[in-house]
Amino acid sequence: MVRVLFVCLGNICRSPTAHGVFAKMVAEAGLARAIESDSAGTTDYHRGEAPDPRAVAAAKRRGIDIARLRARPVEPADLARFDLLLAMDRPVLRRLSAMGRRLGGDARGRVGLFLDHAPGLGVREVPDPYLGGEEGFDAVLDLIEEGAKGLLAAIRRERLE
Ligand code: 4NP
Repeated sequence: MVRVLFVCLGNICRSPTAHGVFAKMVAEAGLARAIESDSAGTTDYHRGEAPDPRAVAAAKRRGIDIARLRARPVEPADLARFDLLLAMDRPVLRRLSAMGRRLGGDARGRVGLFLDHAPGLGVREVPDPYLGGEEGFDAVLDLIEEGAKGLLAAIRRERLE
């Protein structure tokens, strides 16, 4: 089993979207029993909340249901449990890396930027759409779909062969 955790700040916009997009791709590839995914935030501001309604609507327009996900903060156990912990932007990556160092485990090779799996995009961060408009959520989905494709290809190539 390969375990992937998508991480953003609030766990109500970007990371639940990535979780939903990736889980659907994995299921469609017939790999649901080989790849597990989840999402979390570096803060607990929104603990227990459903994703932002704009994120739910944007995902729904592409046939992805994320309405039942609930926000939670990253926990120490996540650093040991997940094979890949993928940050949506650099501040989130720094928080994850700091958590890993504090816990003393060796999370270095497992923590990274999600969009580094889609180098063709030429962008490395999924911008935070929280304070922007509706269209920001579609832009986030475009990036996440490419990232998820690249990630799935990398996992197949490097971990499931
Ligand atoms: P997310 O977006 O990190 O993609 O879930 C945000 C959600 C909430 C906040 C910031 C970003 N906030 O400051 O409450």
